[in-house]
Amino acid sequence: MKLTVERDERAFDVAGAWRIIRQILCKRGAVIGLATGQTTGGMHQIVSEIYRAYPFDTSEVILFNVDELTNLDRSYPGSCFAMIDRQLVQNLDIPPHHFIMPLTLSDDFERECADFERRLTQAGGVDLQILGIGWNGHIGINQPGTPFGRQTWVSPMDSVFEARVRRETGVAADYPLGGLTRGIVNIMQSRRIVLAAKGAAKAEIIRQALCGPVSEAIPASALQLHPACEVLLDAEAASLLPTDFVRAHAS
Ligand code: GLP
Repeated sequence: MKLTVERDERAFDVAGAWRIIRQILCKRGAVIGLATGQTTGGMHQIVSEIYRAYPFDTSEVILFNVDELTNLDRSYPGSCFAMIDRQLVQNLDIPPHHFIMPLTLSDDFERECADFERRLTQAGGVDLQILGIGWNGHIGINQPGTPFGRQTWVSPMDSVFEARVRRETGVAADYPLGGLTRGIVNIMQSRRIVLAAKGAAKAEIIRQALCGPVSEAIPASALQLHPACEVLLDAEAASLLPTDFVRAHAS
């Protein structure tokens, strides 16, 4: 595991943006998995700004998001489809058929999950997966306790995120919501992974995920086992990591 600690949020966003652009420039037809949320919004904006100033070839690039909400219309501005479409797909002139996403509405989500994986495999497999981390250590939407070997599935959301989605969409308290997420085993098959976290609120879970035991209780801890995983942090998110750990892993 390689560790990169940037001094502040701006430097973190720039570093994340360059990891996405580098993947696009290095491989025609790169397959890049993204993550939505506050962690990645800034880096997506910088990717878009750099593309506008210095356009590069995106005609073969395949983008997807690691997870998606279920049982809400895609037009909900907080759906992962809508967010990535708005933040990157439109800005980078990605052909719509190169944006691979599961449907948010389906009468057979098992088939939808299998179809999502099949399309990623047909595209050549994932070259780079960007991930955020939830306050409880979730990656994608795989909550603590998810078996590492579970394939892409529909998971419950964490309570904080679910409450926000319910507030924003106004759906009834008993309306079933979930998150279609690539399984941890599927995420681990990505050729390269960047786990990104910024802000003091992520410092403790980052310490547990990187320095604690590999355990299904903290889904992100599985990334300790990935042969090409970089952890990209700002100084606040890195603030609880022991100095010798930082020294041993820093790039
Ligand atoms: C949600 C998303 C994840 C994201 C996580 C962290 O659960 N589905 O993909 O990594 O939240 O979000 P944030 O970056 O806003 O802290």
